[in-house]
Amino acid sequence: MDWLRQRLAEQGGRAGFAPVMDWLLNDPTHGFYGSGRVRFGPQGDFVTSPSLGSAFGELLLRQLIPLLAALAARTEGPIRLLEWGPGEGQLAAQLGQGLLELDPPWLQRLELVLVETSAPLRDRQRQRLVPLALPHRWATAAELAAAPTPGLVLAHELIDALPVERFLLHQGRWHCLEVVLAADGGIGWAPGAPLGAETLAVLAGLGLPADGGGRPEGWTSEWCPALAPWLAQVRQGLSQGWLLAIDYGHPAARYYGPQRDGGTLLANRGQLSCQQLLQDPGDWDLTAHVCITHLEQAAAAAAWHWRGASLQGEALLQLGLAAEISALSAPGPLDLPQRLARREELLRLVDPYLLGGFWWMLLATEGSCNFQADGEGLTRPGWWP
Ligand SMILES: C[S@@+](CC[C@H](N)C(=O)[O-])C[C@H]1O[C@@H](n2cnc3c(N)ncnc32)[C@H](O)[C@@H]1O
Repeated sequence: MDWLRQRLAEQGGRAGFAPVMDWLLNDPTHGFYGSGRVRFGPQGDFVTSPSLGSAFGELLLRQLIPLLAALAARTEGPIRLLEWGPGEGQLAAQLGQGLLELDPPWLQRLELVLVETSAPLRDRQRQRLVPLALPHRWATAAELAAAPTPGLVLAHELIDALPVERFLLHQGRWHCLEVVLAADGGIGWAPGAPLGAETLAVLAGLGLPADGGGRPEGWTSEWCPALAPWLAQVRQGLSQGWLLAIDYGHPAARYYGPQRDGGTLLANRGQLSCQQLLQDPGDWDLTAHVCITHLEQAAAAAAWHWRGASLQGEALLQLGLAAEISALSAPGPLDLPQRLARREELLRLVDPYLLGGFWWMLLATEGSCNFQADGEGLTRPGWWP
């Protein structure tokens, strides 16, 4: 019996998808991230913006610098740049190196902090950051909450990895869609208990009324019960500051549109995607799009202020990507193959069908950021929606 069957048997033969997704991704022995099996980048399981090269980090830093400068100007003592879910540590390394080169006046006060649940990935991040001269360390959410400081949290492709619960319309009501171990050892899906009042209230707020709103029997999707607790956890680690979440997502009207039966969950491995979520347990990445409306609605309950969302392609163009592409057409310090490779990287970051379709979602703590106010050292992001 493989480990997932064993785990289901221990649970009485069935479980909601959220705990199953948590095992498949985060189990320290078997999980895709927890075991360290994941490989990032073009030669690995999937590509993320920082795994393509240094361009993403360089452009992103142009926005992070004024936000960190504003925090430094209004506070005393340490400030933090935190990355939650840093994967291979590529983005943290690129941002850290970029900060050292730019040497802003508050650099001595800055500490880079990484929050990572997978022990093997923490080790890989440590190795990558060995040459980095900027002070950096790893912390747990509980350690951060025990001593909050001003800071800026980056969550790049983190929320899409938070476990989601699947649900379906069954006999005219929303039910949990559970993973079930059959008597013959097969693993499949079956309706579980009706969703409780709290979950129904969340779904109603996202445009899914308790009677299904005209969707057909058997219609399925997913939602993220881990999102609100995660937002609260991140907020507890900051005395003031920002959270910039970058991920693929849809507003609720699109996420839960009647035509989108089946939801957004995908399994990824070796640059392939499929909807077989339970095959080769722990060997595939599992990911769901972020419901941007849910993030916006959950923010307030976790003491965040929603500051808006912008497409990555638009944000990066505003931050100077077009000027960089144009500069690459003339000879410069890079030779021709290097110029072509850099151009290709920049184009992939803005292509709306690739990484340009990601969303930058910004949240702020109370009073930490009012872009209307002049004279506070705040720079309104050029990509502001
Ligand atoms: C999809 S990867 C993104 C990696 C990286 N940010 C990138 O874009 O290349 C998700 C990362 O988040 C980590 N992770 C998942 N859940 C987490 C949690 N609750 N807290 C901290 N890290 C988490 C995973 O182990 C992995 O490093």
